[in-house]
Amino acid sequence: QSGLITLDPGFKNTGSTQSAITFLDGEQGILRYRGYDIEELAEKSNFLEVSYLLINGELPSKTQYERFSQRITTHTLVHEDIKKILDGFPSVAHPMGVLSSLICSLTAFYPNSLDPNNTQEEIELSIVRLMAKMPTFAAWAFKNKVGHPVNYPDNELDYCSNFLKMMFALPAAKYEADPVISKALDKLLILHADHEQNCSTSTVRVVGSSQASIYASISAGINALWGPLHGGANQSVIEMLEAIKADGGDSKKYLEKAKDKNDPFRLMGFGHRVYKNFDPRAKIIKKAADEVLAKLGIDDPVLNIAKELEEAALKDQYFVDRKLYPNVDFYSGIIYRALGIPTDMFTVMFALGRLPGWIAQWKEMRENGEPIGRPRQVYVGPTQRPFVPISER
Ligand code: SDX
Repeated sequence: QSGLITLDPGFKNTGSTQSAITFLDGEQGILRYRGYDIEELAEKSNFLEVSYLLINGELPSKTQYERFSQRITTHTLVHEDIKKILDGFPSVAHPMGVLSSLICSLTAFYPNSLDPNNTQEEIELSIVRLMAKMPTFAAWAFKNKVGHPVNYPDNELDYCSNFLKMMFALPAAKYEADPVISKALDKLLILHADHEQNCSTSTVRVVGSSQASIYASISAGINALWGPLHGGANQSVIEMLEAIKADGGDSKKYLEKAKDKNDPFRLMGFGHRVYKNFDPRAKIIKKAADEVLAKLGIDDPVLNIAKELEEAALKDQYFVDRKLYPNVDFYSGIIYRALGIPTDMFTVMFALGRLPGWIAQWKEMRENGEPIGRPRQVYVGPTQRPFVPISER
């Protein structure tokens, strides 16, 4: 502590804002969006309705819901010039990098979204555009990766079926989205929709606090989510499980590695800054993984390794002492894989789900007129010293 500055690396004990959007209780394992328990929303609602709830604060009436989803459906197309940006990316580009660039490019097409004194109508339109175009860009980022032609949105389909069709339809073959897969995807998106002031949401708020456009702010959030300690963990979990399987499937050996301070190996998908008990989302996703794999008739050996790891870790003192439990990323990759989503698209799926949360948090920050985010520091560098000419160094 120096003067008035309290050092708090990682903001572990800092409240950055007041928010009415999401409530977490890490000890009880409670997660509520605008007061509604995640268990109820996952069971009874759908992703667009939950998006409306997060962004507007209330569940929509039938008319409000129909208008919201209809506006999204009719804004899924993007300016053809954006395909020139997409064509500039080599197929080695990670879909997260492509997605953040395409979202940011919307600033060029809708310049008045930069205006800090936007009209309510313009803010609402920016929100509809983001919700509508994110799936299109996400699917296009995947097509760029695999070298297939992009698909245009199909306004006859619901949100998730439209996304799946843009992802998997090929010129040579007819594609029909399986309703089991669309429904499972919809539930996963609900579970990822918001999570108070996590790393990527704090990024969206800080970038938005400079009055950067909502598109630039969301683009920054996508990049923060990409990290393996955050949203990138769902991709790292599958890569970890695959490595354990390839190495003979001995989960105990990897549990020991995760405890060894000299070994950089971490049990990806375990641990959480807030949940010091179970992550309520992980419980729902684990149950959904069993259901989806059974419905699709898939027996995935990595699911069994994941369950063995969880069982062993929950009885292991190192993990118990540090309150390390499976988090939202531990089982989600197993479902994405069962749905046919490729590994390097898992974090894109996380971004697709988290979008309404980012939008709601950005909107709340702007409506509350919050100041620009600019923390201080405790300086530990050299004291004043005179310049030395290079001839004397
Ligand atoms: C998400 O914040 C959010 O809400 C995020 C999220 C959201 O919805 O937005 O919930 C989504 O990002 C979930 C987390 C996904 N990340 C991972 O699964 C990566 C693996 N987990 C860790 O890296 C870690 O647990 C974090 C990043 C999630 C939390 O980090 P913290 O709170 O800074 O905790 P820490 O790194 O200081 O760990 C505390 C102790 C340490 O041991 P000691 O130094 O006290 O001896 O626990 C150990 C760590 O070494 N530890 C682990 C571990 N996670 C923490 N040891 C082995 N394996 C792990 N996974």
